[in-house]
Amino acid sequence: MNQDEPFFSNSVPVLAIDGPSGSGKGTISRRVAQHLGWHYLDSGALYRAVGVSAMKQGIDLGDVQAVEACARRTQIRFADDAKGEARVWVNGEDVTDELRLETTGAAASAIASMAGVRAALVQMQHDFRTGPGLVADGRDMGTVIFPDAFCKVFLTASAEERARRRYKQLMQKGVSVNLDSLLGEIVARDERDASRPLSPLKPAADAVSIDTTGVAIDTVVAQVLALVEKSGLLPEAS
Ligand code: DC
Repeated sequence: MNQDEPFFSNSVPVLAIDGPSGSGKGTISRRVAQHLGWHYLDSGALYRAVGVSAMKQGIDLGDVQAVEACARRTQIRFADDAKGEARVWVNGEDVTDELRLETTGAAASAIASMAGVRAALVQMQHDFRTGPGLVADGRDMGTVIFPDAFCKVFLTASAEERARRRYKQLMQKGVSVNLDSLLGEIVARDERDASRPLSPLKPAADAVSIDTTGVAIDTVVAQVLALVEKSGLLPEAS
């Protein structure tokens, strides 16, 4: 490797998609990755996995040292099951369903402000960068983890719209929730993610912001793919 290059740089292209919870990042990133035939990193799942791991071990989430040690020990594995559905294992246990709970999201947000937790997850995120390319979704993909990403997108949407989306998702799963309390939780989580000193939720200076309020998923996917195409990195369509 060239001595002048930062240690994280390699030639595999990364598309970084950051944004707050409910901005559509997950769905859009997955669709874009599928379209391009690239790998997909759901970095939020790593923070959620550490949160679940700590809670299962009865660790107090306010005990920074204990949570950081837990993050270093936690074994996280992503794999498709026999039906081809993406599952996540933490310390050998399938925790896919627990991972999506609101309580897990809140725990993930709380522990994500700890330096030792973030440090423990850096290498794991870099390891996802394998050919032909990576779509990385999170809060700090374009700013901290993959600052050399060739294309950076920051997705936003009003807090009300994001709460409505999450409400619909949870209702479809049969989880009954109150829309107002969901909105309160989303605003509180954004505030915590955006105001922490370490890797806060914010667009990279070279990111393109897309407001997805009232915009269909397919339209946003097409906008992101157009940005990727504009970068000239993809082979010409025949
Ligand atoms: O994207 P998500 O809702 O699954 O993320 C859960 C929490 O994890 C989020 O509130 C903040 C944290 N997180 C982070 O700090 N950095 C990331 N790259 C991804 C998630």
